[in-house]
Order: sequence, then structure tokens, then C-alpha cells
Amino acid sequence: MGEMIHYKDLGLANTREMFAKAVKGGYAVPAYNFNNMEQLQAIVLACVQTNSPVIMQVSNGARKYANSTMLRYLAQGAVAMARELDSNIPICLHLDHGDSFELCKSCIDNGFSSVMIDGSHLSYDDNVALTRKVVEYAHQFDVSVEGELGVLAGIEDDVVAEESTYTQPEEVEDFVAKTGVDSLAISIGTSHGAYKFKLAEGEEVPPLRFDILEDVEKRIPGFPIVLHGASSVVQEYVQLINQYGGHLDGAVGVPEAQLRLAAKSSVCKINIDSDGRLAMTAKVREFIANNPSEFDPRKFLGAGRDELVALMTHKNEFVLGSAGKG
Ligand code: G3H
Ligand code: 13P
Ligand code: ZN
Repeated sequence: MGEMIHYKDLGLANTREMFAKAVKGGYAVPAYNFNNMEQLQAIVLACVQTNSPVIMQVSNGARKYANSTMLRYLAQGAVAMARELDSNIPICLHLDHGDSFELCKSCIDNGFSSVMIDGSHLSYDDNVALTRKVVEYAHQFDVSVEGELGVLAGIEDDVVAEESTYTQPEEVEDFVAKTGVDSLAISIGTSHGAYKFKLAEGEEVPPLRFDILEDVEKRIPGFPIVLHGASSVVQEYVQLINQYGGHLDGAVGVPEAQLRLAAKSSVCKINIDSDGRLAMTAKVREFIANNPSEFDPRKFLGAGRDELVALMTHKNEFVLGSAGKG
């Protein structure tokens, strides 16, 4: 067992101040997932250039893919890169969808400044107990904790709305009080992945359940709320992917206008992974198709990275409103 690495020694910040400012300022902090260096470089460049606070988000799958030690050094490198670019934006390293106390502890012990414990699939009482246990450990080290109430629909679900269980507003006060969490992810109609809604020909994306969000806000005023599954599934990318040999039929996400509205409320963290995956895949496919004699990964990954910077710049400026808030 190695020694504990505290996030403050890596130049990272927890989410407390970021969220307080975001709730007050009517914007949301972007939480971008990453698994590799190019994604992380893009996150740093876009957030430095737009002067936006940022949450670099790591799933358990990302940890397995990239190696947890490698990830820590990448995150450390991201902070150093931002500072070399003369930027003082707050940067958080967050565990996305932690599913056990042990995983959360391992991240906290290895330099994460924030963790999510996702007990949303458990019974209410078990969710409270597990979340409370993580909070008790995390707060000893000033690490912030995100909990979740309500279940987001899975991407394989046939009838998305029926499979998701919206957050019950009556539960939020009790959950927050009993667990001591710093932020709460809620389910108001979003889902993970690129197929968020099943639409009939000519049908529009249904609006998110803003009525639930408003009820939650009334019960816990000013408490930081998190929106998962918030990619817009940018159609330009879907079309490019399909044009260059892909098959993404019926991929659809949350319209930007709805995210802008959410960002103005207590929603202060918006999670985006799928849009980055689509941007990278679209540009890599396009580059490879148009440059058949190139075989240097820097060329095609570089094309993907450039597009990621453009995507995140757009999100920070025009969707989340976090630009200029660093
Ligand atoms: O919510 C899930 C995130 O998009 C991470 O996905 O588990 O495939 O890394 P992953
Ligand atoms: P998307 O799949 O909509 O990008 O959501 C990502 C997410 O919620 C990560 O926790
Ligand atoms: Zn999520």
C-alpha cells in the first residue's frame, strides 16, 4: 500500500466553492469525462482558453482502461499544463459513478478531490447508508461527494421513459440531511449514451421534467444539483460518422436550449461524455477516409483533439455559461 496522496498537493480543488459560485451565478460547471491524453489536453485547452472552471471526470471503466496511476499523473500533468498557460482556473478530479465504498476510498487516497457514490440502484435506506459512509471518509480529507436519487434510463432500454425512475422530490431533503452529501444527481428525463429518446418520424424530443427540478429546488434551495446524461448528441457528428462508414441510426440527445435553461437553475454540474466520443470518432473517421496514406496516430488523433477543443469551447460559452467564470 502506497502513501496517501492528497489532492491539494496536486493543485486540484474540490467542488465546494465552484458549485457555490455556479449556483449563485446561474451557470453550470462542465464535467468532461476522459480516458486518454488527447481528451485531457482538449479539456485543458478549451477550459483555459474560455477561462472556465472544470471537472475532469473519470469512470471506473476509464480507470481500468488507462491504469489508475497513469490517470493520476495525467491529471497532475493537466494542472501543470494549465498553470504553464498562465491560467488559474479551478480544476477538480472527480470519480464518476463510484459503485462501492472501496472504490471511492481508493480514489480519495490517490488524489481525487471529489467522488460520486452512485447508490441510486439500491433501496433508499441502503443508498443513504452507503452514501453516508463515503461522506464520512471523504470529508476527513475535504473531498466533496456527489450522491444520486432516482435512476437514469439505460441506453438499451426499449421504452426509455418507462425504464427511468424520476427522482422523488419528497426524498431529497431527508437524503441530503442524513448523508451530508455536497451535491445531488437527479433524474429528470436524461439518460446516458447516444440514444436518449426513441422518436417516431417527425416527433420532437420531449422536454426534461423541469417541474421535478423546481420541486427539488423548493425543498433544498440553493443546494447543488447535478445533471447526468446531458450530451446533446450533436447531429453534425452523427452525420459525419454515418457518412464515413459508421452506423448510428436514431442517435438523439438533449437539446442545447434545455441545458441552457437547466444551467440557470440550481443545476451546477453538467456531465458530458458522449458528445466528446462522437466528436472524436467523427473527425478520426473523416481524417482517415480522406487521407488514406497517413498512418501517423498524431495526425488522426490530432484532428479529433482539435474538434474536442471546439466542442468544449462551444459548450462552455453557449450552453453551460461557464466561460469567463474561472
Ligand atoms: O456515465 C457514464 C460515462 O459516460 C462513462 O462511461 O463507463 O463507458 O467510461 P464509461
Ligand atoms: P452522456 O452520455 O450524455 O454524455 O452523459 C455522461 C454522464 O452522465 C457521465 O456521468
Ligand atoms: Zn452519469
